[in-house]
Amino acid sequence: MIESNKVQKILYGGDYNPEQWPEEIWEEDMRLFKLAHIDVVTLNVFSWAALQPDEDTYNFERLDKIMEMVRDNGLKVCMATSTAAHPAWMARKHPDVLRVEHNGMKRKFGSRHNSCPNSPAYRKYSVALAEKLAQRYKDYDNIVAWHISNEYGGECYCENCEKAFRIWLKEKYKTIDELNRVWNTAFWGHTMYDFEDVVVPNMLSEEFNWDGIRTNFQSISLDYKRFNSDSILECYRIEYEAVKKYTPDIPVTTNLMGSYKPLDYFKWGKYMDFISWDNYPACDSYPAQVAMQHDLMRGLKGGKPFALMEQTPSVSNWHIYCKLKRPGIMRLWSYQAVAHGADTVMFFQMRRSIGACEKYHGAVIDHVGTENTRVFREIAALGEELEGIGSEILGSRTSAKAAIVFDWDNWWATEYSAGPSRLINYCSEITAYYKALSEQNISVDFVSVEEDLSSYKLVIAPLLYMCKEGFDEKVREYVKNGGRFLTTFFSGYVEDHDLVILGGYPGRLKDILGIWVEESDALPEGEANSFIYKGKTYPASVLCDLLHLQGAQGLASYESDFYEGMPVLTCNSFGKGKAYYVAAHSSDEFYKDFIGEICEELGIRPVADVPAGVEATVRENEKVSFLFLLNHGAEAVQVVVDEAGTDIISGSSYQAGDSLKLDKAGVAIIKRNK
Ligand code: GLA
Ligand code: ZN
Repeated sequence: MIESNKVQKILYGGDYNPEQWPEEIWEEDMRLFKLAHIDVVTLNVFSWAALQPDEDTYNFERLDKIMEMVRDNGLKVCMATSTAAHPAWMARKHPDVLRVEHNGMKRKFGSRHNSCPNSPAYRKYSVALAEKLAQRYKDYDNIVAWHISNEYGGECYCENCEKAFRIWLKEKYKTIDELNRVWNTAFWGHTMYDFEDVVVPNMLSEEFNWDGIRTNFQSISLDYKRFNSDSILECYRIEYEAVKKYTPDIPVTTNLMGSYKPLDYFKWGKYMDFISWDNYPACDSYPAQVAMQHDLMRGLKGGKPFALMEQTPSVSNWHIYCKLKRPGIMRLWSYQAVAHGADTVMFFQMRRSIGACEKYHGAVIDHVGTENTRVFREIAALGEELEGIGSEILGSRTSAKAAIVFDWDNWWATEYSAGPSRLINYCSEITAYYKALSEQNISVDFVSVEEDLSSYKLVIAPLLYMCKEGFDEKVREYVKNGGRFLTTFFSGYVEDHDLVILGGYPGRLKDILGIWVEESDALPEGEANSFIYKGKTYPASVLCDLLHLQGAQGLASYESDFYEGMPVLTCNSFGKGKAYYVAAHSSDEFYKDFIGEICEELGIRPVADVPAGVEATVRENEKVSFLFLLNHGAEAVQVVVDEAGTDIISGSSYQAGDSLKLDKAGVAIIKRNK
């Protein structure tokens, strides 16, 4: 992650906002950080108003003091650029920084992540601030990373964005004829005569009268999603360049948010020196759901370790029910992040604020202000442990033989679609497949459609609705050469612009899958067909494809309705490999059984044989591997170790066949020589 000789252990700390506090309190913070074994603080996340009180005045005095203090106290710094919330003067003097919402409402000053990404004023002043910060603090050798802005996101539909959208389209499509073609504007006579006719697709135009998700012209809305993600990425990139001018060796990141729909993070990952992200599961999230987010984030940069930039030590303020993390859970979830590739464990926030919406958000230092809290004690204990673990894990990687394709364009296009069913949910479908692998302790990588697939034995691409130019060819080669490929209902329908590929679904994938889908039946919530596979009955719901075999073998068929007897599960031998098609949504049990069977056939083994409720992952480098055992279950369990090794947390050594006790929420990291 932070590949630098400045970092010799799993960094431990998080967002620290001393600027919100009187200076008398800072020394006490330093004392408490030491007690908690904190070694990194993310500074300056929301300080723009203080740093730049007007257009021409900058004031770094307070930040200077903070920087000196944290350096004198041996802390590393993750240095933010403060540009996630613009100052009030900017909104007053340059109203173009204010966003326009999907419904056409022009925002006023307030909230955060509130700047129009195409506002000339925002771009000018954000870059200027980033540059000034880099220039001023470049000689602080305790800065381990730049943290640009904060949780970029949202959308803007203002006039600046509209103008910039036209330019973006012109660059992409060159002529108005091509634009009309890819948007299929002959439908409803929406033909554009000039790029000036283009307006942003929102409630005032093509997304009028829909549910805020669907749209009249999917291709227009899709291009706007791409454009919006690119526009915000451009804001990140110009700040990136600004800080690199002065500090070329300090890695740069911005904190991402897992499966966050508006931004195409695979594209973003290319411009980040390392991935960092903020993990805030809901209290009822199950372990595989959280694991999937970590794996997705790790996938954004080809599997490189990432930073856990934020998590709450105890409670979040913004869920409907802000349930406390039970004793041991903060530690368990911290190690879960590390188990999936995190090289840092960081929190939001170090000290609980006294006002506004995050005053009831968990913190290392609570309102009581002392070290005498359960949460502080748990944090200090974990800090001590991480110190003990040292640097060994840093940089180690996950090696997976199974991959899941994740594609933001597919996510957008699938859900923009007017028909066939609002129950089609891209992330849920992906999660169902991920869960089947993860709960069998099989390592999974997430890959984009641009990735090389050849190192995987199994590639799963749920809801590959949009089969982009060239991706079918990649899959074709992959399967021909012996790979196993699996895709599902609602796949292969359209090309990159959401234009249907003629000649039958699943379009470009037909030959690989050896099938042809004639119709698809969207079943309302609660309704299901069924099928029997290897003696077990499973449900078929959401969308049931009515398909014909064209070379593939039917593995199971529908049991009822007018398409009773038609195939629902198929396998096609193609070259040296095989391609599977799952024609309907089914149950967790089905995914587990079916994927488990394919993995077994391919020799893709669970990383360890463990009792239910225990999650096992492996990170490794050339010399050693680390087997992570995480007990998410409600009881203590015994795990039989299959290879000799030493638990780097407890120091206990085990021989193959020994039994190891994992307490409730217990964790072991068994280091094994290769
Ligand atoms: C996000 C932000 C933080 C804070 C936390 C609260 O992750 O980056 O500034 O608002 O949420 O959960
Ligand atoms: Zn805008």
